[in-house]
Amino acid sequence: MCRETVREFSNRNMEVTGKILLALIFALYGICQVQYVSSTNVTYDHRAVVINGQRRVLVSGSIHYPRSTPDMWPDLIQKAKEGGVDVIETYVFWNIHEPQQNKSNFKGRFDLVKFIKTIQRAGLYAHLRIGPYACAEWNYGGFPVWLHFIPGIKFRTDNEPFKMEMERFTRKIVEMMKQENLFAPQGGPIILAQIENEYGNIDEPYGEAGKRYIKWAASMAVSLKTGVPWVMCKQADAPPIVIDTWNGFYGDQFTPEFPTSPKIWTENWSGWFLAYGDPVPSRPAEDLAFAVARWYQRGGTFQNYYMYHGGTNFGRTSGGPFIATSYDYDAPIDEYGLPNQPKWGHLKELHSAIKLCEGALINSEPQFVSLGPKQEGHVYSDGPNICAAFLANMDSQNDTTVKFNGVSYHLPAWSVSILPDCKNVVFNTAQVSSQTTSVQMQLASSKLVHSSSKERSYLEMEEKEWSWLPEPIGVWGKGAFSKHGLVEQINTVGDSSDYLWYTTIIDVDDDEAFLKDRTQPVLHVESRGDDLRVFINGKYKGGKSGNNSLPNITLDQPISLKSGRNRIQLLSVTVGLQNYGSFFDLRGAGITGPVKLMGFKHGEKDLSSQTWIYQIGLKGEKYRFYNGKTTAKARWATGAHMPKKQPMIWYKTSFDAPEGNDPVALDMSSMGKGVAWVNGQSIGRYWPTKLAPNTGCDETCDYRGNYGPDKCLRNCGKPSQTLYHVPRSWIRPTGNILVLFEEEGGDPHQISFKTRTVKNLCAQVSQTHLPPVDSWKSSLKTRAEGIKPKPELQLKCPSSGQVVSSIKFASFGTPEGKCGSFTHGACKTNSAIPIIHQACVGRASCSVEVSEEKFGDPCMGITKTLAVEAICS
Ligand code: GAL
Repeated sequence: MCRETVREFSNRNMEVTGKILLALIFALYGICQVQYVSSTNVTYDHRAVVINGQRRVLVSGSIHYPRSTPDMWPDLIQKAKEGGVDVIETYVFWNIHEPQQNKSNFKGRFDLVKFIKTIQRAGLYAHLRIGPYACAEWNYGGFPVWLHFIPGIKFRTDNEPFKMEMERFTRKIVEMMKQENLFAPQGGPIILAQIENEYGNIDEPYGEAGKRYIKWAASMAVSLKTGVPWVMCKQADAPPIVIDTWNGFYGDQFTPEFPTSPKIWTENWSGWFLAYGDPVPSRPAEDLAFAVARWYQRGGTFQNYYMYHGGTNFGRTSGGPFIATSYDYDAPIDEYGLPNQPKWGHLKELHSAIKLCEGALINSEPQFVSLGPKQEGHVYSDGPNICAAFLANMDSQNDTTVKFNGVSYHLPAWSVSILPDCKNVVFNTAQVSSQTTSVQMQLASSKLVHSSSKERSYLEMEEKEWSWLPEPIGVWGKGAFSKHGLVEQINTVGDSSDYLWYTTIIDVDDDEAFLKDRTQPVLHVESRGDDLRVFINGKYKGGKSGNNSLPNITLDQPISLKSGRNRIQLLSVTVGLQNYGSFFDLRGAGITGPVKLMGFKHGEKDLSSQTWIYQIGLKGEKYRFYNGKTTAKARWATGAHMPKKQPMIWYKTSFDAPEGNDPVALDMSSMGKGVAWVNGQSIGRYWPTKLAPNTGCDETCDYRGNYGPDKCLRNCGKPSQTLYHVPRSWIRPTGNILVLFEEEGGDPHQISFKTRTVKNLCAQVSQTHLPPVDSWKSSLKTRAEGIKPKPELQLKCPSSGQVVSSIKFASFGTPEGKCGSFTHGACKTNSAIPIIHQACVGRASCSVEVSEEKFGDPCMGITKTLAVEAICS
């Protein structure tokens, strides 16, 4: 109706001048648009989420809004959409929204409404996991630390003060979404909501009170009347008013508790998280695709990649302890927002194949077909015209051939073939045809410059280009207080800082033997974590840190003491608060003792219960040195004597934006441990001296067989993370300020900016490869005529505005090697380069049929492959 009115209106007013007419038409369209926002009805049955009366097969992907910037959101969501994702899943992170009690923050990266509206604008659905416990490798699992100080509170159990706060925050988020009409029945994108998170994994020690809590949480959520279903993940005893869902690397064996619930996988871990001190995890695309295909094969209709884009733990948001600043997760979109190939492309193909089966999946139940001891098929059929099949080979070693409907099908080990018409295989999870990209971190052509010497390249930076400021050792200001005995850190600091100073005085008699002979007394310190540094009389003596699996520290540090008064100054540092486990909130941190001195004439001295002076946080935090301003409290020094390799120094410099639009990272390899700020925004904790162990990485990564976080590890013996993402939107063209607080000692002169650049694309497709899934769309319908598409090699430049500028290598025949080092084999045509050149150069994407008709036949009877390496610019 509205559309007609607009048309009529424009016809009748032809004579009205252009601008006015256009303005009116737009206004009318605007009104119509609002009126057109249709209410979406969301329910579910035992097979699927039902949207407007129609069962849906949905692919979902997690993108956590505070782990990227609002500038990045539209592109990330668009890339998810292009990759075949229908739903974006995010947690809501309580502690960023209410950092202090009775204070709210929904601005910038924390603008949840804007994020959900960005999803809506892209035409996707949203799954809002309110929690409000999130886990997510996020500081304190998402809980604000002030919650811990509410008298009588006990987290995640039948406890009135906790339930009151949990309900208040959940209601606040629901109301906020309702006010903006963001739930599906209001015309918004939110089709599902989650309450709690994986409580079933850790509920045992909470006993009966835990059981009561879960029932309460479900009823509380449902009472908020969002109009969309609520889920609880990993909660086998969830009450029937919510859907219990699955999280894990594989989910095909899962069946929901109630026969009336659909099979929903809220977290399919697309890789794994990185912790400082650990190698870098990766999960092969073939295995991830296998897990997904098995899910839909065995009755699943909703699956979510945790993560689809992992992003970055900016500021102090990472949990753990020891979760790294990068939360890349080996997700289909990398930390910087670029497609992680071939994973992104391979999954896109998989999603297209699954969507070709949607009609069969929603109209029927899976019928099991035995294909062998480690092989199984499932058929979805509703009458003669609708039939889809999945054929799986779960054997992790051997390829095999199975018979299905009288036809032989070759099934590689650990793979699933998808047949949307029960005849033609359009996709096999182990066959990757998607392009790969060689991603380089290139030295940026920008300058880290002091404002007075713009000409100098950052490579030849001289000392005067940095300013510095020492952070005081031990007690530095008014807030210091003294107490008998040692204190627990989280209770003392309330997470207002990573840092807590413990200082005590020890008097040494003149006749102590260690003052004369060459022995040294030993300081013994026991800490609950996470990182510990020892200073004696203001001098750094050493330190030790725990790790993600064992944060506790026992340190025996030889020290030098003088006769008379000595100050023992211990800096205890947290590296993200615990986010998982029963009673995780009570784990605690810091030096809880004992602290002893050994090697004295009377044996050991226990310092644990003597008087200690405490100072919370750094002076530079209190007086905001990270803004880089010169104030009465922050007198930055410059000149030739910049301290290097010394602990507890603030550094600052200025820089111009790296040229181009590629994503930017700081290479911090020359530094120790600390925090970096760009224009006052914390890019997170850096820690390149925390190395992964030497062993545990696989030279080759075999996708076959069960994946776990210990498989396919990379980077053994190297720093867990050296590159730190600096979002483009935080950088101005000129005059940016970089500030570092270095805890351990480093050389800022070696810091550089890098840009993440994808120049080379490679693809390798053989004549026996399957054609692209989309090319089947028409031929499946006309299959009676027996038209079969041919395999194609497809290339697409990753960034918008890029085109293929040249072809570095192309060969049709028996090419050898891999991307970056392809060589011609014994069999090759001369036509490959000109054909590929013509098809691709000057274009953002291209596709070329891999056939003898196209390239000629250089070696009859041999299966030929087309390998191409192209450059985008
Ligand atoms: C799950 C949890 C997620 C995340 C994931 C590991 O147990 O629900 O929030 O922590 O593990 O990345």
